[in-house]
Amino acid sequence: MKDFKAVRGVKDIVTYEEAAKWSAVIKKVESLFESYGYRKTFIPVIEHAELFSRSIGEETDIVSKEMYIFKDRKGRELALRPEGTAGVVRAMVENKMLQGNIREKVSYFGPMFRYERPQAGRYRQFYQLGCEVFGPASPMQDIEIVKMAVEAMSALNAQGCLTLKINSVGCDDCKKKYTQKVRKFLKEKAKDLCGDCNIRMDANTLRVFDCKESSCQELYRDIEPLSKNLCGKCDSYWKAYAEGVNKETRYITGLNPDFKIITDDYLVRGLDYYTGPVFEIESKSAGGAVIAGGRYDKLVKQLGGPDTPACGWAMGVERAASLYGYKGTNIPELYVIYLKGADERWLSETVVGGLRDNGVSVEEDKEDIPVGKKLKIADRKNVNWVIIMGEEEKKKGILVLKNLGDGSQIDINTGKCAEDGTGKMIREILEKIGKR
Ligand code: HAM
Repeated sequence: MKDFKAVRGVKDIVTYEEAAKWSAVIKKVESLFESYGYRKTFIPVIEHAELFSRSIGEETDIVSKEMYIFKDRKGRELALRPEGTAGVVRAMVENKMLQGNIREKVSYFGPMFRYERPQAGRYRQFYQLGCEVFGPASPMQDIEIVKMAVEAMSALNAQGCLTLKINSVGCDDCKKKYTQKVRKFLKEKAKDLCGDCNIRMDANTLRVFDCKESSCQELYRDIEPLSKNLCGKCDSYWKAYAEGVNKETRYITGLNPDFKIITDDYLVRGLDYYTGPVFEIESKSAGGAVIAGGRYDKLVKQLGGPDTPACGWAMGVERAASLYGYKGTNIPELYVIYLKGADERWLSETVVGGLRDNGVSVEEDKEDIPVGKKLKIADRKNVNWVIIMGEEEKKKGILVLKNLGDGSQIDINTGKCAEDGTGKMIREILEKIGKR
């Protein structure tokens, strides 16, 4: 029989440790979004391919080289989304959520697809947790989303050195003028540039700054950065942003002391829709940017909606999870072993029900198999706490609470006869397992 293997560049999250870490990352970041007033949205994974070529840009690597495109049975050209922003904007416009100069803050979570060369921290199917703000057009909003991104890294107790890189790509006018200037420079140096940069020069000029060739990088240092070529309006927006980001994020606690904020003159991002401040939070050990985003004031109108400024960011969940200093609990937190003669109904309704009501995740094992095997199953699941009850315990009016971590165990009085006996018992278990 054929052994099936996962498709190249995708990742299974099935081990206890990794799955627990992922669900904690998602929970933490989603509750951060919620605490800032973002509401969750759920958008499709498939879209018309043209949505992405129109928004991200025909000439970008994402659209020209990395998109999963296919025709459906009616011959429509569809794509697996390579990112979330274009789909969110399309959905907000199509559902008329942005009519009437409204303010909207939305978040999303889900898989994205890019046919990239797989390597550490880079996958062909990866997950993003993202947020988008529609309406406000002041640096205060851009600063707030960066602050939220840094707080997300702090909430994840991110290990390793993080660098927050900021820059401004300017409005369409600034970009156009700057692109002409850079192209002129590149044409003069064409013979010294690598093959890729010679192609990018006309098609996607500013992406030359991402070139990995050190000889190209050396040359580009002579080009005056875009941030020094901004129009008056973009320049004062950028200055207020840079100052605010420094002020608001520098002292967020819980980050590695090596956390740095730098202005990266050559941070241009790989998507065409940006129109102002952009940022990335980078970690070398995670394989690059963990969170990235910025302002994109023209996209809503470009996709047929009302003229609505917008900004946002997305976090790569694989990269965030790899940095997460995980100190969470495993699921289930408690494993209840029923042995022959246990007071089954009482155990299930009163004890298990009572613990679940108090937020403990409990798995019950009522199988007719030896206790040794049941304990082995609990151990393999990384469960820390086990409750055991059989005939003997029932007679003595106790439950055995066992800690699989250190092997210790204690008897808990079931308190069936005393007034508030069961309440006391539940409180005692909660206390012992550290849930009170
Ligand atoms: P992006 O920089 O293309 O931006 O991706 C955002 C994040 O997704 C990256 O920082 C990285 O963590 C993760 N990511 C991207 N590609 C891969 C990959 N192949 N494997 C693993 N992780 C990856 C966007 O997608 C924009 N939509 C962000 C945004 C939202 N801008 C405004 N709003």
